[in-house]
Amino acid sequence: MKELSVTQLAPCVVFFLAMICAWPTTSATLLRADLTHVDSGRGFTKREVLRRMAARSTARAASLQYSSSACSSSHDEVSISVTRGATGKMEFNSEYNIHLGIGTPSPQPVVATLDTGSDLIWTQCVCMSCFEQPFPVLDPSASRTFHVMPCSDPLCERGGLLVSGCNFDRKTCLYADSYGDKSGTFGTMGQDTFTFKAPNGAMDVAVPNLHFGCGQINHLTSRANETGIAGFGRGPLSLPSQLKVGRFSHCFTTIVEGRVSPVFLGTPDNLQAYATGPIQATPFVPNPASTYYYLSLKGITVGRTRLPFNASVFALKGDGSGGTFIDSGTAVTSFPEDVYQSLRKAFVSQLPLQVEEVNDLLCFDFDTTSSPKKKMPAVPKLILHLEGADWDLPLENYMLDVEDENGTDVGLCLVLGSSGNRKTIIGNFQQQNMHIVYDLEANKLVFVPARCDKL
Ligand SMILES: *[C@@H]1O[C@H](CO)[C@@H](O)[C@H](O)[C@H]1NC(C)=O
Ligand SMILES: *[C@@H]1O[C@H](CO)[C@@H](O)[C@H](O)[C@H]1NC(C)=O
Ligand SMILES: *[C@@H]1O[C@H](CO)[C@@H](O)[C@H](O)[C@H]1NC(C)=O
Repeated sequence: MKELSVTQLAPCVVFFLAMICAWPTTSATLLRADLTHVDSGRGFTKREVLRRMAARSTARAASLQYSSSACSSSHDEVSISVTRGATGKMEFNSEYNIHLGIGTPSPQPVVATLDTGSDLIWTQCVCMSCFEQPFPVLDPSASRTFHVMPCSDPLCERGGLLVSGCNFDRKTCLYADSYGDKSGTFGTMGQDTFTFKAPNGAMDVAVPNLHFGCGQINHLTSRANETGIAGFGRGPLSLPSQLKVGRFSHCFTTIVEGRVSPVFLGTPDNLQAYATGPIQATPFVPNPASTYYYLSLKGITVGRTRLPFNASVFALKGDGSGGTFIDSGTAVTSFPEDVYQSLRKAFVSQLPLQVEEVNDLLCFDFDTTSSPKKKMPAVPKLILHLEGADWDLPLENYMLDVEDENGTDVGLCLVLGSSGNRKTIIGNFQQQNMHIVYDLEANKLVFVPARCDKL
């Protein structure tokens, strides 16, 4: 454990350490937040939606160093339940927003995109240049429990922030962070009490002294009513790290349905309960230099054929390039270009429908509106062969019936893409209807097809 130089720390930080060590003491703490789907109700056509989905990625080249925690109390169950707003006709961007409160005595609303591909939790606050949000930005002066984070706090320098340092007052921690889609935030690091809604109308749960970015200059490339981003990555500033949970999980309901999606921080409920398939597990691939949750992908099957990929195309290289990781903040799964081209060829050769391109997606002409009774030919299966687990994707997790702005069917599209870099990123469109557990203690990802709306 690294030694904290307490003398350097402001009294509020000492207070902070005392508080966070004190929370929680039982293993039954339940936290809840509502999760809404980002583009719900925005009136996008499916084409626009697909373009927006493809544009959004949180790939961020962050290099993290882990600071040891100041207290070793462990982890305790917290669940956050997430809801998604009504989605209407395929109007989505496939991002999931957590709703929570910051500050006391009245928690102020914060809506943050759940992002397992980054660490920082931030929300718009004390604005110099902010994007529009549907309610007032966070006002730290209205909170009795807000403190700025001193720049002497080890998390200022070693929290995995892209840029951080002391303000001209030489006391306050300033930060800047950015995302792969050119979104970014700049501001002051602070800490305050977060309030999560307890499930089923039970009492709210308040967790004191969580660190977050008070974002004063912010830009989000694609957005809908969120006020910031909640990082669920491996770094010390992420929500799971700050809550010191050994596991967290989410279960995204079908994107077009707009039902509640639960997120749990802590040990999730019995995975068997609403399972619709086998429980499987695959180890995380260690990469101390990254906040991402890397997996070991060995191969891919389309329909009857396991494609002849050399597994090294999916593997993390010694220099940090390549690799496969799972990310809730990325919408569409993307592969290295040559892999994506092989996947397209395999679908084209196995699906007897006319091919067309829609926004760079491979689509097949199949018009259900003009001939509703026409029988859909069997769509080839898509299976990701991970170390120790075969992820057999349900059809709705890779095929989308796309319509244009007039509601006319354009076709059935393969919702996969190619990445500019050599990385394979498993996005949230592919994670629907799966209970996905990030078991940090056992260093593995556990997943099971599930009725997420029942959890
Ligand atoms: C954004 O907030 C406004 C005002 O509260 C609401 O009318 C609208 O439906 C929201 N949009 C989304 C996408 O949730
Ligand atoms: C797979 O790729 C690696 C690295 O490019 C190479 O060393 C290996 O020989 C390849 N294996 C096969 C079976 O082609
Ligand atoms: C949708 O309808 C409008 C008005 O009829 C028409 O101008 C437009 O070309 C149509 N768009 C498509 C993609 O068919």
